[in-house]
Amino acid sequence: MTSKSALLGRVRPVAEQPLLRPGVDRASIGALVRKFYSRVRKDERLGPIFAREIVGDWEPHLEKMTDFWCSVILKSGDYHGRPVPAHLKLGDVTDADFDIWLALFGETASELFTPEITAVFVERAERIATSLRLAIFFHLGPAAVAAGQ
Ligand code: HEM
Repeated sequence: MTSKSALLGRVRPVAEQPLLRPGVDRASIGALVRKFYSRVRKDERLGPIFAREIVGDWEPHLEKMTDFWCSVILKSGDYHGRPVPAHLKLGDVTDADFDIWLALFGETASELFTPEITAVFVERAERIATSLRLAIFFHLGPAAVAAGQ
């Protein structure tokens, strides 16, 4: 017979654990962020979007994105922003742009991390990209946006 706790274990979402691996820390995540965005800025499609949105000093964006990835991967709690509104206001981003973004991200991660660690970064990036795509292209209502999903 199935115990109550086994049943609950099956239906409850399992809390995501921090990825604890040697070499995965704020320094290496910061290096990933910097390498990734230097590539993004050179991309013929994504470069102009970012150049238009981030005028002047890139440092605050790079630090924010390092906080974001430390929160996603290490569960550091450093990031307190809301990604959905930041992307909704871009207006001209297409579904294909997300594929470019994800390809550049995966490529950069694989140059800096082992395949196992890269797979974790890529899986989380894909998951977040899916929610951003849903919000942008399927016009979620204001309640979902307010929840910062
Ligand atoms: C085609 C795809 C994408 C484009 C063109 C794009 C572009 C941008 C731009 C222009 C900003 C605003 C920068 C600023 O003002 O600081 C931004 C912010 C951000 N992006 Fe993206 N992005 C894309 C995909 C993604 C994906 C897939 C993720 C996550 C996996 C992501 C995570 C973030 C985060 C966390 C912020 C900061 C939001 C905030 O707190 O203000 N982006 N993005």
